[in-house]
Amino acid sequence: MSKGKYYLTTPIYYVNAAPHIGTAYCTFSTDLIKRHKKQQGYQPVVLTTGSDEHGQKVERAAKAAGKTPEEYATTIANEFVRQWQTLGISYDHFIRTSDPKHFAVVRDLFERCEKNGYIYTGSYTGQYCFFDELYVIEAKPGDPCPDCGRPTETVTEENYFFKLSAFQEKLLDLYEREPKFVQPDTRRNELIAFVKQGLKDSSITRTTINWGIPAPVPGKHVFYVWFDALISYMSAVQGTDLWPADLHLIGKDILRFHAIYWPAFLMACELPLPKCVFATGWILVQESKMSKSRGNVVRPGPIAEVMGAGDELTGSDALRYFLWREIPFGQDGNFSYDALIDRYNADLANGIGNLASRTLTMIHQYFEGKVPASAGDPDIAASAARTTDLVNDHFEDFDFTRGIEAVLAFVSQIDKFIVDRAPWKLVKARATDSKAEGKLSETLYTAAESLRLICGWLYPVMPTSMVKIWTQLGMDTALDSLLVDALVWGKLPAGQAIGKIQAVFPRIDAKPAIQKMQELEVIEIERQNALLGKKPDLPSDDKGSKPLSELISIDDFGKIDLRVGEVKSAEPVKGADKLLHLKVDIGEPEPRTIVAGIALAYKPEQLIGRKVVIVANLQPRKLRGLTSQGMIVAASVDGGLPVLAGFGEDIPVGARLK
Ligand code: MSP
Repeated sequence: MSKGKYYLTTPIYYVNAAPHIGTAYCTFSTDLIKRHKKQQGYQPVVLTTGSDEHGQKVERAAKAAGKTPEEYATTIANEFVRQWQTLGISYDHFIRTSDPKHFAVVRDLFERCEKNGYIYTGSYTGQYCFFDELYVIEAKPGDPCPDCGRPTETVTEENYFFKLSAFQEKLLDLYEREPKFVQPDTRRNELIAFVKQGLKDSSITRTTINWGIPAPVPGKHVFYVWFDALISYMSAVQGTDLWPADLHLIGKDILRFHAIYWPAFLMACELPLPKCVFATGWILVQESKMSKSRGNVVRPGPIAEVMGAGDELTGSDALRYFLWREIPFGQDGNFSYDALIDRYNADLANGIGNLASRTLTMIHQYFEGKVPASAGDPDIAASAARTTDLVNDHFEDFDFTRGIEAVLAFVSQIDKFIVDRAPWKLVKARATDSKAEGKLSETLYTAAESLRLICGWLYPVMPTSMVKIWTQLGMDTALDSLLVDALVWGKLPAGQAIGKIQAVFPRIDAKPAIQKMQELEVIEIERQNALLGKKPDLPSDDKGSKPLSELISIDDFGKIDLRVGEVKSAEPVKGADKLLHLKVDIGEPEPRTIVAGIALAYKPEQLIGRKVVIVANLQPRKLRGLTSQGMIVAASVDGGLPVLAGFGEDIPVGARLK
């Protein structure tokens, strides 16, 4: 019997960057959950993904590429569609925020909020980061954006405001009443602490931007991109009874939008709230966040192509497997080509792949390719039942790593069982020992039935590869419509003819494979840059593309006192993800306090002892309660993280840069 509908979403992706393994991770994970929920008997299970197309960033990127925002957004939205299909994502709706059906829903929600008294007009003057589409509430003119470190710009706007402050208690009640609304718990606790500090009303229209959804109000207002974006989850399924969503899967960086603003908007409209918002951690590369300026962005296409030896769907499975096997869901974790191939060879080639080919080859040789009749080994049958429960429970809790570990433990058990039973000896004993035939049948039935169950358990994780093994087992039912009640022991039909045997996870030689992935990555960067309208050989869109500032005299330059400093200590700033509190020695009796927007680019421990450049005669300014006595010099490019200026040679602290 159907457990009812299950509606889940990925974030909708900005169209000013092409897909990479970070965005693929979120999308893969919703695909896993969709397949798991179908197996559990939910019906229909519907997955929405899409593209977030409005806002200044896209307007600017389109202009730089010589396209209209519509043309530009279409090119990149198509690229997302193409990549998700190549990677085997089984989504149902791809919503584009430029779709007119979305416009209508956005206006409707605004009007409901307005009717219920949660909208008012007000004048806003403040610092705005155009890159992050973010007002920086506490910043003063000239201050950097705490998110990306770029300079903020002063804007004054007559805007429409949403009374977010009216929802503080209601939101706290919601988190209390529905403890699973925000997951994992660590994020929930952080969120509660944040909301308890108080919520400020938020401006939800803009007059400084053209590329957006016109608001149904007098004047030239378009909706703030986040107001528009969140509503896409509803517009994608407008006209169905799928709302409310059962799950919004997102990255941790956008949790506040989803767990504060979104439920508050919906409450203001008297609409049902989503059931759960789950925030994943970050996929790091070389232990740091991916960024174009670091040159550590990894794209899924080359990995899928090489790991699947040209069959991208199978190769995509290897990447999916690695991400969930390696990184506990909800936490940050590192990606590396070496670790990917190590895992693949250990768990897939030597583990599951080897079990499949051994078992099927023996059935082929000893039983003329037909599954022998037997009830199977009772101990293994009991262990299989426990594994089904473990996998279901862990997947239900979004703990994919432990679900996969439970399957691997079962695979090891079967491997040991086969070695202990030694079917290659039993087959020789058949002629002389009357019990050998029965034992041999039981052994190979047990191995084959285990394989059938493994296909069912891991189908949500590696759909293409598991279907391959399923077909080789001779199954004539569709694995994608298998329900959990079929995951019980003894359902493999005796006498079933197995299919053509082929290695599903052939071993991969790390060195040439990594080299090939890196070569393809270079081609992929160029292809994506061409799509994004960027110069082919530049790692970022910044190099040479921005006009230089106006000329200054040498005297003007002389006014800036740049000093060599050494970082003595570094620690995060409470409540500001992007800021670090540094103590920097520039040759004075006491090190200076410097508050820098570099926390996403550098971990505190990476900075200790590092020589940096400090603007030493900048007026002190207050940031998050700390007085910053100067500024650290860093280069920044659009779309990338700040990179600190430094020195190739040794240089004493306090030396002046001239
Ligand atoms: N457009 C907004 C989302 C609006 S949803 C109504 C946005 N887009 S994004 O393209 O920048 O990011 C989309 C998602 O990808 C975010 O959840 C983000 O956390 C995730 N990831 C981007 N890079 C990532 C990693 N390196 N690792 C894991 N997820 C990351 O934000």
